[in-house]
Amino acid sequence: MDPATAAVLETLRLAQSEYVYRSVEEPIGVDGFVIPAGWLLRICVAESHLLDPHFVDPLRFDPGRHVRSRTARSEFSPFGLDAHSCLGARLTLELGRSLVEAFADYVPTVEASERPSRGNRHWRHWGVGPDFRLLLTPRE
Ligand code: HEM
Repeated sequence: MDPATAAVLETLRLAQSEYVYRSVEEPIGVDGFVIPAGWLLRICVAESHLLDPHFVDPLRFDPGRHVRSRTARSEFSPFGLDAHSCLGARLTLELGRSLVEAFADYVPTVEASERPSRGNRHWRHWGVGPDFRLLLTPRE
């Protein structure tokens, strides 16, 4: 895997992962418990991405972990995991890789920044604060 894609995946793991909901049509057995039919099941994708040992030192931003070893889809699924997984996954990764590679030609300096913020509604994501400014200086 190229380093830029690894950086995108690590960003998704720490800051963009979601939860998904599924309607339970048949009872599902999990570790001796039964999730009954008719329940709405919330699958905590973001939390699953912070589990050691799948992700050692899980809060650390470490793109290299995606290069050193591949995680199974059942362990790392920022774009969902079944028939309804994200149709924009390839596009997202390609755009992200291009952006990271373009940034590599510059030295970034954060000039002003509020703390990252996140809304409290469904599907809200972390984002930069309103006064965030990034100065990009071309590398010599
Ligand atoms: C960082 C970017 C993105 C993330 C993290 C993301 C994540 C996801 C996730 C987790 C799902 C599964 C929802 C579920 O199973 O209930 C999903 C579905 C979907 N995504 Fe994305 N997505 C992203 C960008 C995009 C883009 C750019 C497009 C379109 C160009 C897109 C189109 C879709 C569509 C159409 C579905 C529904 C697929 C279906 O229900 O069969 N996504 N996305």
